[in-house]
Amino acid sequence: MTIPIPEHLRARFELKAHVGRPLSDEDPGGLLRLHGPEAADPTALYARLRATYGQVAPVLLPGDLPVWLVLGYQANLDVARAPYPYSRDSRLWNLADRVPAAWPLGPTVDWEPTCVFTDGRAHARTRAAVTDSLEDLDRHGIRRYVSRYTKMLVNEFIHTGEADLVGQYAERLPMFVMTRLLGMDEADGPRLADAARDLMTGSDTAAASNNVIKTALVRLVNAKKARPGNDLASWLGTHESGLSDDEVLGHLRLMLIAAYETTANLIANTLHMILTDRRFRASLSGGHMTLSDALEGMLWDELPISVVPGRWANADTTLDGWRIEAGDMLLLGPGAANTDPEIRPDLSEPVHGNRSHLAFSAGPHRCPGEDIGRAIADTGIDTLLTLLPDMRLAVSQDEVRWDYVLLSKRLSKLPVRFQPRPPLALRSGSLPARDLPAATGCPFTGAAANTAP
Ligand code: HEM
Repeated sequence: MTIPIPEHLRARFELKAHVGRPLSDEDPGGLLRLHGPEAADPTALYARLRATYGQVAPVLLPGDLPVWLVLGYQANLDVARAPYPYSRDSRLWNLADRVPAAWPLGPTVDWEPTCVFTDGRAHARTRAAVTDSLEDLDRHGIRRYVSRYTKMLVNEFIHTGEADLVGQYAERLPMFVMTRLLGMDEADGPRLADAARDLMTGSDTAAASNNVIKTALVRLVNAKKARPGNDLASWLGTHESGLSDDEVLGHLRLMLIAAYETTANLIANTLHMILTDRRFRASLSGGHMTLSDALEGMLWDELPISVVPGRWANADTTLDGWRIEAGDMLLLGPGAANTDPEIRPDLSEPVHGNRSHLAFSAGPHRCPGEDIGRAIADTGIDTLLTLLPDMRLAVSQDEVRWDYVLLSKRLSKLPVRFQPRPPLALRSGSLPARDLPAATGCPFTGAAANTAP
């Protein structure tokens, strides 16, 4: 179903025709929604939007608020790389007064004093604190935490012979690792993982869950001020950028939330592919594709976030023949960009070794946590497959359910079965006393069993 074009956008449609890129005959005569049933098949929707509008399409967000979705690969790069005229400052939005109460995108779009919503020098200052702190993390240490928490999570269900890999694994692992990297106690991981999940699903208790996270972070910031350690909270607090306590708090929260859903989706989507696609599994186990190649392939075709809201024009401009007015909101579309026929005429061609996808965006705001996201997914999946090599999908493929949130696919559940085993012996408060069962290596990825602590 299409929604009539709002009066104030009509003149801009004429401009598009005027600059020589006429709308095709398929012009729906109205705008398409980027949410609800229309958005259930992103590939078909992108193709329709491309055929009708070109590299940039006017679409509707929840509340039927009109925004521009950037579809083309090059157009996404151009917008993501240019803080002028495409700012990150959501306070510029010319439709802010039409946003309904409890709008589902509020938590993503409401302005906060973090690197996400600033440009230029202000952005460079806070961003430097984030990137320098992330760089100080010990990569080897991250992989040890991932391996340890994977074993802890598997221990909760290993004796039952069944699990839901979304709720019991993919959604929990990134939060466990991040709470530890931030400098929190290991015991905080489960509570914060539950709170983050609740917050992101926008449930009735989301506000209470937000408070759980905030209270834990305030406690952390105070504790690290009194006694700094080797962790993100301490490094952010002492960085030469001189972040205020509120800024430290805001960036710790940002890192938790930014890492959580993205990495959980990457893990869940990759496990789904391994469990359901025989060719994918055979390429992994036969050594034709490494696990990191597999993850990169997922970042092209099943990326964790397909739409990034956004950018806001800070001047009148034109983009692919459209007149963009100051204050208009644009959505980056890495999902559409990664499948742009201009750069990938044949989507079945393998993309091994090619990291030029836009899953982590581009330009000054490009994700600073990409290596950590990759490390959590890679080590987590490898360890899980080594522990439970006989894992199989417990339902038929068409019973697997997805939720669609603004064209980002999220698996609801991934039920698996395997041979029940006795729990692994893990020492609390330190790394595991006994590692993997006598395994020779991962049958899916060919990697040697991880016997490091
Ligand atoms: C597979 C996992 C991940 C994916 C796909 C991903 C993707 C993205 C994307 C698309 C953006 C928006 C960039 C833009 O506005 O142009 C972003 C921003 C960001 N991400 Fe990630 N991310 C992932 C993991 C992480 C992790 C693990 C962390 C932290 C350790 C993190 C921290 C951030 C931060 C702080 C920003 C804001 C950067 C800025 O505005 O300057 N991300 N991420």
